[in-house]
Amino acid sequence: MAAKKAKILILGGDGIGPEVMDESVRVLEKSLEGSGLKLDYEKDLAGGCSIDQHGIPLAPETLKKAKKADAVLLGAVGGPKWDALPHEKRPEQALLGLRSGLKLFANLRPAKILPALVTASSLKEDVVGGIDLLVVRELTGGIYFGKPRGIKDLKSKDQGPKSKKGFNTEVYTTTEIDRILRSAFDAARVRRKKVTSVDKANILESSILWRETATALGKDYPDVTLEHMYVDNCAMQLVRNPKQFDVIVTTNLFGDILSDEAAMLTGSIGMLPSASLGAKKNRLGFAQGMYEPVHGSAPDIAGKGIANPLATILSCALMVRYSLGRDNVAVRLEKAVEKALEDGFRCGDIFEEGKIKVGTKEMAEKVMERL
Ligand code: IPM
Ligand code: MG
Repeated sequence: MAAKKAKILILGGDGIGPEVMDESVRVLEKSLEGSGLKLDYEKDLAGGCSIDQHGIPLAPETLKKAKKADAVLLGAVGGPKWDALPHEKRPEQALLGLRSGLKLFANLRPAKILPALVTASSLKEDVVGGIDLLVVRELTGGIYFGKPRGIKDLKSKDQGPKSKKGFNTEVYTTTEIDRILRSAFDAARVRRKKVTSVDKANILESSILWRETATALGKDYPDVTLEHMYVDNCAMQLVRNPKQFDVIVTTNLFGDILSDEAAMLTGSIGMLPSASLGAKKNRLGFAQGMYEPVHGSAPDIAGKGIANPLATILSCALMVRYSLGRDNVAVRLEKAVEKALEDGFRCGDIFEEGKIKVGTKEMAEKVMERL
């Protein structure tokens, strides 16, 4: 088969985003040597840098480019500079705009503890050792997008003249629930075949429907064990006995919260990648997707060359796996990251006594040497 060129849109974003992205792309390029796969990169702005340039967090042309790309790599968005802006103008809106504009309804957030990092977790080694779970978060629905929403003045006299109300709506259709559950079941099939569907069905109607839909769909996957868990219990179980989990599937908001918790079990949120996928296939015949580290823009360390690039490198690996269809290259990248850690190299966020402290560029080089 003739080598195909895949189009990748790079949105470095704000803070440490661009620096970890530049280094990760160097590693990615190196990992593709000899694979026959060539990537065409285009760079654009998203988040605060786009606000500075265009006055809006995501320009329509940028979204257009994203739609045409085979995959999007995103660094991180946001920072104190833009914190005072009204919510619809904040950098975070770029993320939401990309997620909904590209219809990326499934957000995969793996949390796997690497043997070399087991002591970096704030939990005991015997609790976290061997964790390998995947949070599948619904990404284009729920309270993040539900209507009605807003802040309104209250007219009623008894509330006082200045009283207001803020409101959002948690809404899920069976179509939305069905497709995210399918993503979770499919993921579980190639893992340990267990799905934990997380909801608040003791209180919320949207969750009652979620649970009913999940249960019905479970019949299509007799080889996968389905269990249901309330979100508060899940938050507790994650720190009590995280090894019970294989795939956790949940709503947009619950997934936002639980994925941060799951990330921290592994010792550093700076280590974790994510993939956002929809139903659309790219020109290579694989899923069009957006890939980003779970961590934020860390403005306090931006521009210092010390940020940990591993989550972005691992996000590139996910892109290679899901959007470029080269599982072998993805595995090679992931192994090289593990090897660099085993050999003692650490960025500041996961540094421990007795290890070798390296900066962003050096860490990328250590990974490249091990490819
Ligand atoms: C995440 C982030 C975003 C979210 C913010 C930055 C909009 O917390 O990707 O988890 O809430 O989805
Ligand atoms: Mg979050």
